[in-house]
Amino acid sequence: IDDAAEVVEEKSEAAKKLKIGIYFATWWALNVVFNIYNKKVLNAYPYPWLTSTLSLAAGSLMMLISWAVGIVETPKTDFDFWKTLFPVAVAHTIGHVAATVSMSKVAVSFTHIIKSGEPAFSVLVSRFLLGETFPTSVYLSLIPIIGGCALSALTELNFNMIGFMGAMISNLAFVFRNIFSKKGMKGKSVSGMNYYACLSMLSLLILTPFAIAVEGPQMWVEGYHKALSDIGPQFVGWVVAQSVFYHLYNQVSYMSLDQISPLTFSVGNTMKRISVIVSSIIIFRTPVQPVNALGAAIAILGTFLYSQAKL
Ligand code: 3PG
Repeated sequence: IDDAAEVVEEKSEAAKKLKIGIYFATWWALNVVFNIYNKKVLNAYPYPWLTSTLSLAAGSLMMLISWAVGIVETPKTDFDFWKTLFPVAVAHTIGHVAATVSMSKVAVSFTHIIKSGEPAFSVLVSRFLLGETFPTSVYLSLIPIIGGCALSALTELNFNMIGFMGAMISNLAFVFRNIFSKKGMKGKSVSGMNYYACLSMLSLLILTPFAIAVEGPQMWVEGYHKALSDIGPQFVGWVVAQSVFYHLYNQVSYMSLDQISPLTFSVGNTMKRISVIVSSIIIFRTPVQPVNALGAAIAILGTFLYSQAKL
C-alpha cells in the first residue's frame, strides 16, 4: 500500500512539474511576441505611457468579457482584497511603465539585459528591507549578475540614461510586486488568472491619469496620424497585438506564480530574457559588440548560479 501511495505521489509530482513546464514555455513564447510588437509600435509611435495603458486596458476588457460570458468564473472579492491589492498594483504600474519607457529609448535587448539583474534586486530587497539573510554563496552569485549587467551597460553602443534607469526602476518595482502578489494569493480563493485580471484593472485606473498628464491626447492623435501614414493600416494591428500579448503572457506568468515561489519566478523570468534578447537582436538587427554580449552571458550565468545557491 505504501508503495502504491508513493507511486501516486510521484505521479502527481511529475504532473505538477509538467504543468509548470508548459506554463513556463507558454509564458516565454507569448513574451517574445509581445516584445517584438511592442518595439515595432514604439519605433513608429514613441508614446510608452499610452501603449502601457492600452496593454492594461486590453487585458481588463478581455477579462471583463470572460467573466460576463462565463468562460472564467468571476472572483468573489471584498474591500479588503482590493485594499491589499493596491500596493501591488502601484508596483505593477511603476514596473510596467518604467520598462516600456526604457524600451522606447534603447534596444529591447538592452532593457532585458538590465532586467536580467532582477534576482539581485530580489536579494537586496529581502536583505535590507525585509531583514532576510542568505548563505554566502547567494551573495557571491550577485557578483557576476551585477558585474555582467554593468559590463553590458558600459559597452552598450546606444546607451541612454532614461533607458537604463527605466529598466532599473522596473527591476525594483517588480520585486516588490512579486513578493506582495504571492502573499496576496496565499490561502485566497482568487486564482492566479483572476488575481492578475484584478491587478490589471486597478493598475489601469492608477496609470490612466498619469498617462494623460505626461503625454496626453493631443500628442497621441498627432502621433497616430504620423504612424498611420508611415506604416499603413497594419500599425493598428501591431498595437492590438502588443496589448493582447502583454495580457496573455502576464496572465500565464501569474498562473505559474500561483504554484511557485517568487524566487523561482524571478529565475524563470531571467531565463525567459535569453529568448527575448536573442530573438530581438535577430529581428531588429541590433548591433552588438562581443564584449557587450559577454556581459549579458556573465549576468545570465550569475542568475543560474544564484538559483543553485538558493536551492
Ligand atoms: C513590461 O512592459 O511590463 C515589461 O515588458 C517588463 O516585463 P517583464 O519583466 O515581464 O519582462
